[in-house]
Amino acid sequence: DALGYNCWLGYHKLDNSRLIKEYVKWCKNIIRSEDSDVINTALDELKNGIHGLLDINPIISVEPVMKAYLSIGTFSENDTLDALLETEEKEETGEEGFIIKLAETDEESILIIAGKTEKGLLYGVFSFIRAIQTQNNLENIFGIEKPANQLRILNHWDNLDGSIERGYAGKSIFFNNNKVIRKSDRIRDYARLLASMGINGTVINNVNVLKFETRLITSAYLPDVARLADLFREYGIRLYLSINFASPMELGGLPTADPLDEGVREWWKKKIEEIYSYIPDFGGFLVKADSENRPGPFTYNRNHADGANMLAKALKGHSGIVIWRCFVYNCMQDWRDYSVDRAKAAYDNFMPLDGKFDENVLLQIKNGPMDFQVREPVSTLFGGLRETNQVMEFQITQEYTGQQKHLCWLVPMWKEILDFDTYAKGKNTFVKRIVNGSVFENKYSGIAGVANIGDEANWTGFQLAQANLYGFGRLAWNPDLTSEQITEEWVRRTYSNNSEVVNIISEMLLSSWKIYESYTSPLGIGWMVNPNHHFGPNVDGYEYDKWGTYHRADLRGIGVDRTSASGTGYAGQYNKEVEEGYQDAGTCPEELLLFFHHIPYNYKLKSGETLIQYIYNSHFKGVEQAIDLKNKWLSLKGMVGEELFNHVKGRLEGQIEYSKEWRDVINTYFFRKTGIDDEQGRKIY
Ligand code: GCU
Repeated sequence: DALGYNCWLGYHKLDNSRLIKEYVKWCKNIIRSEDSDVINTALDELKNGIHGLLDINPIISVEPVMKAYLSIGTFSENDTLDALLETEEKEETGEEGFIIKLAETDEESILIIAGKTEKGLLYGVFSFIRAIQTQNNLENIFGIEKPANQLRILNHWDNLDGSIERGYAGKSIFFNNNKVIRKSDRIRDYARLLASMGINGTVINNVNVLKFETRLITSAYLPDVARLADLFREYGIRLYLSINFASPMELGGLPTADPLDEGVREWWKKKIEEIYSYIPDFGGFLVKADSENRPGPFTYNRNHADGANMLAKALKGHSGIVIWRCFVYNCMQDWRDYSVDRAKAAYDNFMPLDGKFDENVLLQIKNGPMDFQVREPVSTLFGGLRETNQVMEFQITQEYTGQQKHLCWLVPMWKEILDFDTYAKGKNTFVKRIVNGSVFENKYSGIAGVANIGDEANWTGFQLAQANLYGFGRLAWNPDLTSEQITEEWVRRTYSNNSEVVNIISEMLLSSWKIYESYTSPLGIGWMVNPNHHFGPNVDGYEYDKWGTYHRADLRGIGVDRTSASGTGYAGQYNKEVEEGYQDAGTCPEELLLFFHHIPYNYKLKSGETLIQYIYNSHFKGVEQAIDLKNKWLSLKGMVGEELFNHVKGRLEGQIEYSKEWRDVINTYFFRKTGIDDEQGRKIY
């Protein structure tokens, strides 16, 4: 696997003979007495894992043929397993969890991997393999594990022509030439990757549903979509589709898509019945409505709840859900108008509707109030909404974070967001506890990630960007894992258990987000990118545009005043304890200073540097750190496969050049704006 196609699931023989002996003890014989697609998937994975990692071929049997063996299955269906487990254990395991446990009698030693459901079992098998692959002592994984989040879902922004909006790793693995791809190998491997992280849902088409994609819910496409759903089902994954709110007009020829119109409601009801006749476990719809020129209920003077509930009612009988996006703002803004603030838009649109959504509607909220910038505060809807199911939307694909040409490992950022205290119900109301549904006892909730994969051999373009996909999946399963645990796991599984390799690649990943941040836009201001494609520096690229994305730099200062006293009032949307910190520049976390305040260039930061000197310093330092990333990588020569070594080296060399461009464009811009020299007299153009 020279190119990294297997990601973290390439099973290579371990070289630790002591541990191999420990594992092999139970792995020579696998007992399974149930038969179903998902159980077969689990069994295959277990066989392959054991074969690859331990170099033995286990005997699969219904009755044990050895004294020590592995027994896998679901305790709800399998009486033998049921009898080996305590009642509390079974209750605790839940719908998607699993238990791994040793049962020893005088004659036998049984290592049990069991779930209540086959999905739980599948996750248990992957967890067992992960333990072996990372050379963990098996005692460490004995116990019960279950996912923190109910919905763990990927969003693909794939179009039917095969292109991927904001895709940086080739073309779609699902679609080509306005058809669903029939060849299934790659799609099966994709499902396998997802299941290995515990992802249980995927939306296969772009939130921007255009002409061809609108037809995915017609008989022209549904048989093919159903084939994909069949495939995903074997891996415990439900398929979802993004839909066009105007479908009743575009497909049904109705004169309106008004959600309160009887004809429209009837049309959706029939349509949804039709979808379920092809896909009995269809997950539901993802909807981008009244957002960036997509149709929605506003046209008919209806609100988002009217729109979402209309679909929800039709889906409910089939246990389908509506995931309705909150990325709604005025994209025809006037940069001269200081009173409108895009950051406020999601909250302004959705807070008044809190409590008005049906129980099978979830609002999907981007992590920040703008749009996946390298640094943003947490969306005010988290901690604002109290009576609405919520889904966190992260962007795994690196649109604003280097487009898989820069190394930018996003897990530390996601961790900060998930660990953020909203104070919605007093101290310790962390975002992660809102999105796992526990704070407000939601019926549905979860985490979505905009996928970063395409049809390139290594899936993600930049092989190290696989770590973002992996990290997303692991956090969706368990947001309490630390960044360090995730890097270590990923490196061990993907590269090697050699401690030097683990340490160096971990250090690279762990430092990369801050490095990227330091040479791009400063202190939370965002947006200084080239319009449209969003790659590379352009300080004023979005400054005089209609998108609501301004930095407001002049000769004296920079930043957007979002305070209540003198600015747009965005800061006032937070709960009091949070708001207080942001309203005042002195208490505002410095990494967000320019997001909340307009600050003079000679303002002294806590480090003692002036703002302008900080901008210069961080940009010079960021480039040095990018060079250091490459040097760290070079020290691994001979310790990782040559082809991968050269591939990563090439990307890191590219990153150094891009970072210099960023440094020089940003520093020059501010030098020219202010006329203030760099204290250290470094080269500014
Ligand atoms: C960003 C992104 C678009 C995407 C949109 C969305 O604006 O650039 O490509 O469609 O977000 O999330 O809907």
